[in-house]
Amino acid sequence: MPIVSIPDRGKDFEVNEGEVLYDSLHDQGEELPHGCLSGSCGACRVEIIEGSENLSPPGAVEIDTVKSLTEELSLEGKNVRLSCRARVLGNISFRPIK
Ligand code: FES
Repeated sequence: MPIVSIPDRGKDFEVNEGEVLYDSLHDQGEELPHGCLSGSCGACRVEIIEGSENLSPPGAVEIDTVKSLTEELSLEGKNVRLSCRARVLGNISFRPIK
């Protein structure tokens, strides 16, 4: 099973391969910032620290939302994904972006 790590919280989670990142942690009692849960508000934004290749590729909605967020919040250079969209395919570590 893939391991999802949140170093800033000192926590690691085993998750089912292919599960949506947000759902996989919510089901284990770990709450992440969120809003629409459909890829359009950007509230669930996270920075992938390691293992970005172990997430499903972003779809069109996620790409648009991340592009807007990157401009609004000056996130250039950060590997930004949406936890309500990205599916976990292998080990990753990340931090929520405020
Ligand atoms: S919760 Fe709105 S984009 Fe993920």
